[in-house]
Amino acid sequence: MVELTLPRNSKLTGKSKSYPADRSVSKPDAEFRTFKVYRYNPDDSENPHVDHYEIDVSDVSMVLDAIIKIKNEVDPTLTFRRSCREGVCGSCAMNINGSNTLACTKGMDECGSGDVAIYPLPHQPVVKDLVTDLSNFYRQHAAIQPFLQSTNLPEEEHLQSEDDREKLNGLYECILCASCSTSCPSYWWNGDKEGEDEYLGPAALLQAYRWLQDSRDDEKEQRLDYLEDNFRLYRCHTIMNCTQVCPKGLNPAEAIAGIKKMLVERG
Ligand code: SF4
Ligand code: FES
Repeated sequence: MVELTLPRNSKLTGKSKSYPADRSVSKPDAEFRTFKVYRYNPDDSENPHVDHYEIDVSDVSMVLDAIIKIKNEVDPTLTFRRSCREGVCGSCAMNINGSNTLACTKGMDECGSGDVAIYPLPHQPVVKDLVTDLSNFYRQHAAIQPFLQSTNLPEEEHLQSEDDREKLNGLYECILCASCSTSCPSYWWNGDKEGEDEYLGPAALLQAYRWLQDSRDDEKEQRLDYLEDNFRLYRCHTIMNCTQVCPKGLNPAEAIAGIKKMLVERG
């Protein structure tokens, strides 16, 4: 197996290229915007850099549509992830004008009037252009055991009261886009230390709380034992970037506070 050394997306040492629009063939109602897009290609030596693409956005409503237009009409080498185009799969998460979000739900009308800067999710290894390697993020999600653990499984449906089901609202909707964790300074510095000094980050902790809140789960004590750790949980310093950026309107900071409260209450 070839070991790849993946760069972090911080240093821009390559030379930018500009792709101005051909205004001689544009529509009379054309509206030109420039997109400054981070580029990294593991197969060339001009890395990384920011390319400038000027396109007509008069027929574009979402930032993802603009990126697709650039790929289809200007530069087919531009690489990014997307699937549902509906804010459901989480794959188009990236940093747009300085804030992590989903490109498919970010409207062009939310991007101000100047150039639009598009970068991969911060502080993650970059595979190519806007595609980051989220293996570490998924490993952390797996570490909190995101599945029901019940010793008393009923023969038929495992019912909950309406009140108990209500407790999962605001938690189960997470689409694992990683926008929250990769916007968190504590996660930047402590999120990639697999082992004892590792902060799990807001996304994994929100999921941990989701299972702690599930009335059907019988492993609460073991789940809390795992989380009661200076790094895994307590590296959260309530900076709140996670809650500010979550494109699904969830509140990972509140979930983390909920776990801390459970730990205090169990003594
Ligand atoms: S909590 Fe929000 S920002 Fe974080 S992974 Fe889930 S959906 Fe994405
Ligand atoms: S493409 Fe699925 S969330 Fe954006």
